[in-house]
Amino acid sequence: MSLQQEIAKRRTFGIISHPDAGKTTLTEKLLLFGGAIQEAGAVKSNKIKKTATSDFMEIEKQRGISVATSVLAFYYKNKKINILDTPGHKDFAEDTYRTLTAVDSVIVVIDVAKGVEEQTEKLVQVCRMRNIPMIVFINKLDREGKDAFELLDEIEQKLGLNVAPLSFPIGMGSDFTGVYNIWEQKIKLYFGEQKQQISDSEEINDLNDERLIELIGQEKVSELIDNLELVDGVYNPFDRDAYLQGDLQPVFFGSALNNFGVQELLDCFIEIAPPPQPKASDTRLVQPDEEKMSGFVFKIHANLDPKHRDRLAFVKIVSGTFKRNQAYLHTRLKKNFKFSSPNTFFAQKKQIVDASYPGDIVGLHDTGNFKIGDTFTEGEMMEFKGIPSFSPEHFRYINNADPMKSKQLAKGIDQLMDEGVAQLFILDMNGRKVIGTVGALQYEVIQYRLEHEYGAKCTYEPLGVYKAFWVAPDDLQNAEYKDFKRVKQRYLAKDKYGKQVFLADSPFSFEMTKSKYPSVKLHEKSEF
Ligand code: G4P
Repeated sequence: MSLQQEIAKRRTFGIISHPDAGKTTLTEKLLLFGGAIQEAGAVKSNKIKKTATSDFMEIEKQRGISVATSVLAFYYKNKKINILDTPGHKDFAEDTYRTLTAVDSVIVVIDVAKGVEEQTEKLVQVCRMRNIPMIVFINKLDREGKDAFELLDEIEQKLGLNVAPLSFPIGMGSDFTGVYNIWEQKIKLYFGEQKQQISDSEEINDLNDERLIELIGQEKVSELIDNLELVDGVYNPFDRDAYLQGDLQPVFFGSALNNFGVQELLDCFIEIAPPPQPKASDTRLVQPDEEKMSGFVFKIHANLDPKHRDRLAFVKIVSGTFKRNQAYLHTRLKKNFKFSSPNTFFAQKKQIVDASYPGDIVGLHDTGNFKIGDTFTEGEMMEFKGIPSFSPEHFRYINNADPMKSKQLAKGIDQLMDEGVAQLFILDMNGRKVIGTVGALQYEVIQYRLEHEYGAKCTYEPLGVYKAFWVAPDDLQNAEYKDFKRVKQRYLAKDKYGKQVFLADSPFSFEMTKSKYPSVKLHEKSEF
């Protein structure tokens, strides 16, 4: 098969949602359709349950599960589908942001009763910033929830999306009888107590089919016709280009648990979702069908066996063919690496792969050299863009609790930061290390892992920081910059890459600084 054909076959996407909206259940149902698993319940959620906060073994166990479910690949109707898993827990949101740099599209799952939740808002915002094509799946229609139109309004208002319903529910909760598939203009009805059985469904191709009235009654048919007219009148018709540009978001309704509306979603997804997309590097835009291989690391996973510190770096192939045993240039280290056992992921299994194509994810064994964002090429010097750090929400000093193990501590911190567990800032003034995280849970994870994997002990000390802002590089001629640096010295630090950061202690001090030094540009993320 030619490279072009391999590319056209692939769909790489992520499923995002607020925890408990049904991401894991939907993933599982998609895998069932692809024949990649045989029974429900086979995909374990990698979500870290709230109760796990102090249960380290549980965190470790869940970390293990998440390796297996990091990438789930399956074939469906001759397409190779790669689902990149994203942790639902908000303390791991940074992981999700990074995974979103490796997807070509996303499916957003929303709980019909809860509507748009906090985590959905944050993740959708990141997708909108990058114009990632999104499909919305409104889940749990087997339960009583919000009115469909009310929900569509909420999605438009809270998420800033422009929706185009491609299916519409008939009833809801105990009254739920099916979905009208606007995309294929078909009706699927579900009957019986045991709705989980897919055999309890019936397909009708025409709204005017007499059988429809027989099966669901005149009242429901009229209501459906009215609703469809309203959909037609109020919402934009589906336009694939607008969807691909991130300007229009198709919406499906269903129930992942009961398998309603899932096949409709999948069938439409493989037709409309984008194949692997070009990606910008610091020098140029790289096209997937270029002959030369290029790819980037978007996730690093520590080995589960603490005695072996090797790690698995997840690389998204952007262009060309990745081959086993071929040397590739690691552009940051300017060094060649050869991989004798690159892993690919199929369903929940890892296997060694000889060749991978754009859109695929390969897992490369690493002994501690790689960082998130690193680029591999066949010799061209470039770095892929688009893996920015966002300001953490919690900040603490990290102290060495065992002076005999300071080397181990430094190495441990270094490697955990490479994995993207948290962010490290080093204060300009005194060189003290500050760990910034998205959630408090990470501090426990770091402490536990430093001790168990590196034999080092640490303590934390509170630090009153509100947010980190990246400072645009100095203009040495600029007197304001000099003044800013002198006055704010106590609040200045470097991130892991040596970039200048301003640690504002309150929203007020941030605003004051901005107005006092208008020419000093402060950014909320590390790439600007
Ligand atoms: P997440 O990955 O987004 O966090 O959600 P997950 O799939 O784990 O689903 C969260 C809960 O919602 C699960 O119940 C799941 O069974 C349920 N659920 C998912 N889809 C549907 C649906 O279409 N209808 C209904 N009624 N429930 C749904 P749980 O009790 O928390 O977990 P479990 O014990 O069933 O695994």
